Amino acid sequence: MNQSFFIKTYGCQMNDYDSNKMEDLLTFNGFSKVSNVEKSDVAILNTCHIRKKASEKLYSDLGRLSVFKENKNKLGKKMHIIVTGCVAQAEGNEIIRRNKSVDYVIGPQNFHIIPKLLKKKKTNQIFTEFLCEEKFKSLPSSNIKNVSRLVTIQEGCDKFCTFCVVPYTRGAEYSRQVEDIYAEVLNYIKNGTSEITLLGQNVSSYKSIIIEKSKKKEVNLSGLMNILSKIPGLKRIRYLTSHPSDISDDLISEHKNNKSVMPFLHLPVQSGSSKILKLMNRKHTKEEYLSIISKIKKNVPKMAFSSDFIVGYPGESNNDFEETLDLIEKVDFASSYSFKYSPRPGTPASTKKNYINDQISNLRLKKIQELLNKQQKTFNTSFIDKNIDVLISGRGKKENQYVGRTPYLQPVHIVSSRNLIGKILKIKIESLTSFSFHGKIIA
Ligand code: 5AD
Ligand code: SF4
Repeated sequence: MNQSFFIKTYGCQMNDYDSNKMEDLLTFNGFSKVSNVEKSDVAILNTCHIRKKASEKLYSDLGRLSVFKENKNKLGKKMHIIVTGCVAQAEGNEIIRRNKSVDYVIGPQNFHIIPKLLKKKKTNQIFTEFLCEEKFKSLPSSNIKNVSRLVTIQEGCDKFCTFCVVPYTRGAEYSRQVEDIYAEVLNYIKNGTSEITLLGQNVSSYKSIIIEKSKKKEVNLSGLMNILSKIPGLKRIRYLTSHPSDISDDLISEHKNNKSVMPFLHLPVQSGSSKILKLMNRKHTKEEYLSIISKIKKNVPKMAFSSDFIVGYPGESNNDFEETLDLIEKVDFASSYSFKYSPRPGTPASTKKNYINDQISNLRLKKIQELLNKQQKTFNTSFIDKNIDVLISGRGKKENQYVGRTPYLQPVHIVSSRNLIGKILKIKIESLTSFSFHGKIIA
């Protein structure tokens, strides 16, 4: 009988992509996916290390999983437990030391070896080499059918912001070849995809080489989007996550001239204080960030922005925090993520002594979230009674209900007796409930 597998994904879209790839790999090797961990022969926990809370979840989940495994063993059945992702990379040995039921600990650049490992008897092993190229070359084509798909084009980070574990967990920057990405996107489109999101920890620093008319030509993110947008059937292109110091003029031009590139930019700033940005090693000031935003607004007026913020970074004064609120007022974000600073082992910031006390950080987080939510609500409300293009991606919870997304990623619910999945429709927005729209089809 087929062996079954279960995957739980924590954290960011890079992990979602990796989980999809593990699913493709295991399905290709004859395993079948189950959505109930208790029924699985192989349980994979694909983990996140970005903040303490995220990485601690692994250990509580492992506690429960080892009980399932013991119960299965008592019935004479086997179960493999595999920990993948960024906690696997960062904590390696520690995971097996804390929970003996873990069979394999596999870093983000090694998961392609899982099918081979499962055929072997030896367990309690750790694999954390940086094998980006080998990994991508080993991935089979995909049978997952989704209107919107993620495509990792770049991994790792050379920026070394002082608070961040990514340069250590995902390693140095690596860009995939254009041909490989093109083939992957073609495969998705054959399976019914019409929207792709190009992923990278530093997607805007993507760089590769192609040969054109026997000459080498460098391809950056805008060049890649230009090439991919010519694939028939591909309607929308997005990308995540960019760094302010990599936003080039040709990326702005691509937004201006290429209708497939969605007018939405996630551009983390982290803080609005140039003093804190310097301490964070962010390589840009408040003024530089604001000037990039105003250049984009001037060239692409319909562009909307989102960002990431950290409050309570060591040394952040009230005045620094006010600078962040001021930046938010000046940019006017469509949506954003904000976090309380979490010291991560091995990062330069974690050795700092001037921590901000928790009470102050909590107050700052509350204040920043109130402002960001207010801006998001104003942005969303401005769409009421307007017509907007919506890509329908799936069915809603109610009968004949469909769900789609606007170019700005806002969810929209509509009702239809016709199957609309994969279509881009003009929808009149009628109402807004929390963060989701309801509308009717115009065309
Ligand atoms: N503490 C809090 N937030 C963090 N992020 C990254 N590292 C930390 C940390 N140590 C946030 C940043 C980043 C997002 C993915 O997570 O805002 O952009
Ligand atoms: Fe982390 Fe900074 Fe790299 Fe983003 S740019 S992944 S925050 S080190």
